[in-house]
Amino acid sequence: MKVGIDLLHFATANYYLGLDTFAAEKNIDVDKFYVGIGQEKMSIASPDEDIVSLAAKAAAPILQKIDSNEISAVLFATESGVDQSKSAGVFLHGLLNLSNRCRIVEFKQACYAGAAALQMATALVRANPKEKILVIAADVAKYDLDTSGEATQGCGAVAMLITEAPRILEIEPGSGYYTDDVMDFWRPNSRTTALVDGKYSTKVYLNSLKQVWEHFTESTGKSFTDIDYFCYHIPFTKMAEKAHQTLVRKAGVKLTQAQFQAQTLPGQLYNRIIGNSYSASLFISFISLLDNLTENIENKRVSFFSYGSGCVAEFFTGVMQPGYQSVLMTENHKAQIDKRIPLTYTQYLEFHQQMGASDENVTLNINNPGPYRLAGIKDHKRYYEKTDQ
Ligand code: CAA
Repeated sequence: MKVGIDLLHFATANYYLGLDTFAAEKNIDVDKFYVGIGQEKMSIASPDEDIVSLAAKAAAPILQKIDSNEISAVLFATESGVDQSKSAGVFLHGLLNLSNRCRIVEFKQACYAGAAALQMATALVRANPKEKILVIAADVAKYDLDTSGEATQGCGAVAMLITEAPRILEIEPGSGYYTDDVMDFWRPNSRTTALVDGKYSTKVYLNSLKQVWEHFTESTGKSFTDIDYFCYHIPFTKMAEKAHQTLVRKAGVKLTQAQFQAQTLPGQLYNRIIGNSYSASLFISFISLLDNLTENIENKRVSFFSYGSGCVAEFFTGVMQPGYQSVLMTENHKAQIDKRIPLTYTQYLEFHQQMGASDENVTLNINNPGPYRLAGIKDHKRYYEKTDQ
């Protein structure tokens, strides 16, 4: 039985800050960002946008294509949760009018949680092929102003429908995984912004990749040349490049520059102009690969490296299904990215200061045109709304 991703769609915010604007304001050479970390823009959430509104925007086009009453579970991965008790997925359930015969839970382990939710959804469907599971990976990556992480902010949500006989990608059984209790990136409960030991985090990321690769090859018997395309967790695109260089060295293969780029570059294009989206970032990379490749990659194998600081990592693979191109939502993804509005630095500061800052009573100004937005907070309760758009 094949199990995997049947439908796939992402959403990002309606605004971005150009790293040229950012560099000019901070008096830094813009090539530090364009070349040094490989980023051009970061999607910035307005105060009336959060992981729930982003997730609803990501999931709605999928639900329009199926009978949404068939969704038997929502597994919601995030590290920018909106409540310490109630799962963001339950707010989503309300906004999208899902069936009451559905279970919902939130997954957390930094950026790894999306891969964990995907693997668990796959296992549930293997156990009961009638299940249709909505996996959400949604995050707003927010760091303090004037910190090393500030240039690597961003936001996004990916919705994936996991079923038997999937139309896009069969997830293959077997993976390599690795856990180590380290403090490279974390967010204490009292904070809306993450703390990070930046340089150390990049070392832990690359070490985790080597560890999961060893475990993956041991447990599956697959080797580098069995894989056609490589998707990585992308905090910034230079990290994915360094990851692929590390893997190529570890596997002891020789690639031309053109082969190296063909395996990874299409999977970085969206991330370069969206920024980090934590748990969603790996899957935005996969969507970027599918939307930007010119050739048809039916029956080709794609690998996924998920890294969540703290840290947990996993390496697994999937096989592209015949006819997958007919169900991609490429136009929708490209239109969303293209219609984003550039922020001035002052507007960015206003959004940064307000976004997720408090749970006091507030009616939020309409900056997010929808189709879903956070309308306000009253008596410590969040209120979402569907707009006409
Ligand atoms: N032209 C070209 N290149 C330039 C340049 C210029 N004018 N100026 C600097 N550079 C290069 C540097 O040489 C450097 O290259 P290398 O990494 O190859 O050495 C690169 O640009 C970055 O420069 P710095 O090291 O000076 O940058 P920095 O001190 O601002 O920090 C960072 C970089 C630590 C990655 C920082 O962006 C950060 O803290 N990011 C957040 C943490 C993060 O994303 N970690 C990734 C692993 S953890 C993870 O993946 C989980 C997650 O999502 C957070």
